[in-house]
Amino acid sequence: MEIQSPKGTRDMLPKESHLWQWIEQIMREEAALAGYREIRTPVFEYTELFERGVGDTTDIVQKEMYTFLDKGERSITLKPEGTAGAVRALVEHKLYAEPLPVKMYYLNNPIFRYENPQHGRLREHHQFGMECFGVKGPTADAEVILTVLKILGRLGMKDLAVKINSIGCPVCRPNYQKALKEYLFDNLPNLCPQCQERFNRNPLRILDCKEKKCQLITRDAPNILQFLCEDCDSHFERLKVLLNERGLKVSIDPQIVRGLDYYTKTVFEIVMNSPRGELALCGGGRYDGLVKKIGGPELPGVGFGIGTERILLELQNQGIAPEEQRVTDVFIASLGEEGRLPAFDLCMDLRNAGLRADWDHLDRSLKAQFRYADKLGVKLIGIMGGDELQKGALRIKNMLDGQEKEVSLKDAVQEIKTLL
Ligand code: HAM
Repeated sequence: MEIQSPKGTRDMLPKESHLWQWIEQIMREEAALAGYREIRTPVFEYTELFERGVGDTTDIVQKEMYTFLDKGERSITLKPEGTAGAVRALVEHKLYAEPLPVKMYYLNNPIFRYENPQHGRLREHHQFGMECFGVKGPTADAEVILTVLKILGRLGMKDLAVKINSIGCPVCRPNYQKALKEYLFDNLPNLCPQCQERFNRNPLRILDCKEKKCQLITRDAPNILQFLCEDCDSHFERLKVLLNERGLKVSIDPQIVRGLDYYTKTVFEIVMNSPRGELALCGGGRYDGLVKKIGGPELPGVGFGIGTERILLELQNQGIAPEEQRVTDVFIASLGEEGRLPAFDLCMDLRNAGLRADWDHLDRSLKAQFRYADKLGVKLIGIMGGDELQKGALRIKNMLDGQEKEVSLKDAVQEIKTLL
């Protein structure tokens, strides 16, 4: 039987690569404009990093990680998200000793989650993320939110909803958790089995359950924003001012809680519509306790992750389809055995001159080579037929206007360069 890719994975085929590269280029440019430099961390880490970092009460750690013992009996996990690895590297290499803030981004990090594959939900996806360390105030929160929106704007996306919330800090969140649990207690038997389980381990997560019956119950739950301590409240208010200053319309959504344990204060999501309702395109927030938890100093952090496959879905939803650039500009067609070596030589010289050139690898007839070049959509075809070979010349046909001219072989590279 034919072997297929594992369930929940997706190939990026050569014909799609221009889209990925276009998105990556914009991400790199915008990250650089904001002073972020790239970090690359391993695809796998010791499992303990995610248990400590992401939190062992989260769905990700409890149910979704690809964890295995390596040959040395160490527990290894394929990255289920990008932040923990970046923080581990920051601590291990003492990047916090560099001038603050330390700003980094990761580009198309492969991320693995053992989820039920469905529309927009994969077991391997790729994330671009930005992380800013060392800024306590909300300007860094605003910076990362505005940068990802700028990227999406440059990709041509419109009408995306930005939802923000604050989930407080270890000082004020316990009061909220207590009030939430009191509110939910009477309704506990009516929650879905997963939320019943969350009640003790992670009650805030009940707020963003996708089950209708849970949503009906949480609709009138106490609002976390009314429980914020002064510090968290003022942080949130100042963030709103900064975003407002830049004309950004955000909706305040107290149900946004995020699925990772490390968040403090700001959390946010940019959402898109999918056949099954809303789907997060981007998610992020502040994680002021994480660096310390991973063994570093007290250092605040804030960032986001955005899935490239979901960007591609949203581009499709919005009808944005940039055309692929021409792959080959000039094709050198030749006749018979005696033409092969000069054609090959010229093709290599053209490439050395920085031109996208190709020739016939498959010993096809001149007519078949023309058909192939036409399919490639080349701008020029250089022809080495019997006459040209005898004269040491090249006939150049411009495929856009059909015009032809003959040039001496030694001038061919320069001539083609001029014509392109
Ligand atoms: P997250 O919300 O779990 O956050 O994931 C970020 C983004 O990755 C989502 O908004 C979505 O675009 C994409 N994504 C997540 N799961 C899947 C999936 N199964 N299939 C396809 N795409 C998916 C984080 O991972 C945090 N580390 C973000 C962060 C960085 N917060 C602070 N810094």
